[in-house]
Amino acid sequence: MTQRTIISVVGARPNFMKLAPLARALASRRDLRHVVVHTGQHYDIGMSGAFFRDLGIPDPDLNLEVGSGTHAQQTAAIMQRFEGACLEVQPDVVLVYGDVNSTVAAALVSAKLGVEVGHVEAGLRSRDWSMPEEINRAVTDRLSNLLFTPSRDADDNLIAEGVPEKRIHFVGNIMIDTLVYVLPAARALDAPAQHALAGRPYVVTTLHRPANVDDPAVLTDLFGALTQIARTVPVVFPVHPRTRARLSDLGLAPETNTDLRLIEPVGYVEMLSLVDGAALVITDSGGLQEETSYLGVPCLTVRPNTERPITVSAGTNRLVQPDGAILEGESRAILSDPRRVDVEIERWDGRTADRIADVLCGERGWDGGTA
Ligand code: UD1
Repeated sequence: MTQRTIISVVGARPNFMKLAPLARALASRRDLRHVVVHTGQHYDIGMSGAFFRDLGIPDPDLNLEVGSGTHAQQTAAIMQRFEGACLEVQPDVVLVYGDVNSTVAAALVSAKLGVEVGHVEAGLRSRDWSMPEEINRAVTDRLSNLLFTPSRDADDNLIAEGVPEKRIHFVGNIMIDTLVYVLPAARALDAPAQHALAGRPYVVTTLHRPANVDDPAVLTDLFGALTQIARTVPVVFPVHPRTRARLSDLGLAPETNTDLRLIEPVGYVEMLSLVDGAALVITDSGGLQEETSYLGVPCLTVRPNTERPITVSAGTNRLVQPDGAILEGESRAILSDPRRVDVEIERWDGRTADRIADVLCGERGWDGGTA
């Protein structure tokens, strides 16, 4: 059998957790070369390098070092630089992950070079075209030959859009592979104790979506709600660089007599450890909706919609409008009776990467989508 070459393209923080288990699974397959390209969309140690280190991902074979910019600048820079890499490596398949600008840029280049595209986390839809990620998802799926879906609602979305069933592979949620793999280390780390939170109810929050942090009125209102909650329970807030800049522009900082802790972005193991011990997570992240659901930790997602509806129907997630008074009220209701629940979601079982590797290697011993 001739050797097949697969390029994985990653660029932004949420991509790295999706790459890690597949990098391990592909490393153990014979007749396969796996080349990892980092676009450089995220470049701070805390946003990128820490994840490679924490998750044991080998250093990328190539870094395109595109950095930040407008959507057009960033997408165009990735396309220009990735085209050369693709022509040099001559891959059989290019794998792209999730819904960031690096995902759609690499998919466009590959499709135009006639290279097969595989999309890990295909089929999710919020139906909210004001989110750049929704545009990235829909375009990437349209360009993909292999669509690896995390949940059956994603299959339904793709079928409704006319994607041939034979391209769709319901493999499960690859983020959960990483969670399952890292959970023992996260529990051993005991981040709550390190943050002097052991045995106390506390909240973990992250906010970085442009809709929540780029509008001064919305950010001020949400920050006010977090301040109120932090009068009674500690609120730990690892702050994304985008959010840090906006808070600083508005002069928003924790008030005295509150326990609102603005900290630097934390690595994956520490974050999982903090989330695992939390009474409540308040977020606008996609990944945290899934991670809290798996762990059974209550989650309030500050968005009018979600592309991950299974976290609401089967998990612990609830959507709240970006309104400080509503957020505070919902948070207090959960904190008055904090409890974890048992959640089980189909194929969120830590074996998604192996299923994807089986498809890529042409083996399929499991019930893997339609042949
Ligand atoms: C991107 C993704 C978003 C994902 C998020 C996770 C897109 C369209 N959006 O949003 O889906 O949820 O990553 O973090 O791809 N910055 C730094 N250091 C870095 C990276 C960024 O300081 O390492 C700052 C820069 O000022 C940059 C800003 O953050 O302009 C935004 O970064 P960008 O990659 O454009 O988008 P994110 O908001 O991170």
